[in-house]
Amino acid sequence: MEYQEILAKYADMPGGMIEAFHAIQEELSYLPEEAIVQAAQVFGKPVAQAYGVATFYSMFSVKPRGKNVIRICESAPCHVAGAAEVVAALEKELGISMGSSTADGLFALEFTECVGQCQGTPVITINGKPYVDVSPAKISGILAECK
Ligand code: FES
Repeated sequence: MEYQEILAKYADMPGGMIEAFHAIQEELSYLPEEAIVQAAQVFGKPVAQAYGVATFYSMFSVKPRGKNVIRICESAPCHVAGAAEVVAALEKELGISMGSSTADGLFALEFTECVGQCQGTPVITINGKPYVDVSPAKISGILAECK
């Protein structure tokens, strides 16, 4: 679905801008500048306010990134449980470093704070779906699910 259609769908909904941004990001993996500008028009807000919404929440990205967004929890419990080894395994497997995306546009690597799954540290999420008790040995299998 094009971002214009998504904006039109949420135009009359209270709090629709955030919902529309979620839907656009689900479709495109990020919020393009032109979508943010158009959202301001659709919701009758200043462009600066639409940018404010798009950049305030850490789950939104205003930069293009890979389709499958892998987020690694870097809060203390996951850190202690070996998140750094999981990061190293992901970077090695994907050939990219944290904060970047693969050239084929399939994966992006980001850090996140606690995602509320501390019973299974270390934790990663892929497009919001949590994977618990992750170890370097499990990375290949987890990534294969996404391809
Ligand atoms: S500390 Fe990592 S999920 Fe809570």
